[in-house]
Amino acid sequence: MALGLAPRLLALALLQEGLAQDSTISVYFGSGCFWHVQHEFIKAEQTLLGRDSSTYTSLTGYAGGNRLNSFGHACYGDYGGLGHTEVVVMTIPKRTLADFAVVFWDLFVGKNRADIMDIGPEYRAAIGVPGGFTSEYLQVVNASQAGRAARDGFWFELKEGQGDDPDTLGQALVWVYDTERYPFYQAEIYHQFHDDFMPGGNYPQSYNALQTELLEDGRMVRTQCHRDQVESSAAFYPMILVGMLVSQI
Ligand SMILES: *[C@@H]1O[C@H](CO)[C@@H](O)[C@H](O)[C@H]1NC(C)=O
Repeated sequence: MALGLAPRLLALALLQEGLAQDSTISVYFGSGCFWHVQHEFIKAEQTLLGRDSSTYTSLTGYAGGNRLNSFGHACYGDYGGLGHTEVVVMTIPKRTLADFAVVFWDLFVGKNRADIMDIGPEYRAAIGVPGGFTSEYLQVVNASQAGRAARDGFWFELKEGQGDDPDTLGQALVWVYDTERYPFYQAEIYHQFHDDFMPGGNYPQSYNALQTELLEDGRMVRTQCHRDQVESSAAFYPMILVGMLVSQI
């Protein structure tokens, strides 16, 4: 006998629920200079998800501003003026959001980001989740600071960002952005898998080499930003030169 309508709807709902459990989510986090932040999240992808150089997703970039440059992006040279802050984006299974959020909270030293040399709104603390401030994802991220809060004796306040928001240094404050309204703009290639200037920031060559690997398989792209364009033409012109020499022979 065929299932009645109600059981069929229930089966469908359970199926969707099951799929949702496994589905992924793209989020970003910012806490000072994005170089060490990317390194910590790559480590987290490895330890929490068993990912490796062929599957890592964490990339540095800019987000949280209300303006874009002439080609609809933000670059190292203009992101501050356009109101953005440095962030790292990642695509992770939804069920692991709380674990990645713990890694974010651990980036702080007391109320400060680990990197207190960089000052200004370009380094403000930020969280980007789909749906932003009112989403269930933010509740997950907030709840995951309980361990840190118990240790440090205070909670970070989460505030809905309006774009172009001020610095958070020393304030136990993190701006929250809706990733649809404030999307992530990938930073230039030379800002990916970069060594950090803080102690311990001289990362292994295998880490720096991820730059080539993610570029080659398309997990990241050359932006239209000046530095990426200069680098791609620097790689291009010698090839033209060789082509001209070869055609002479
Ligand atoms: C985060 O959690 C704390 C502690 O439960 C609560 O006081 C605060 O209102 C929460 N913040 C948000 C934005 O939900």
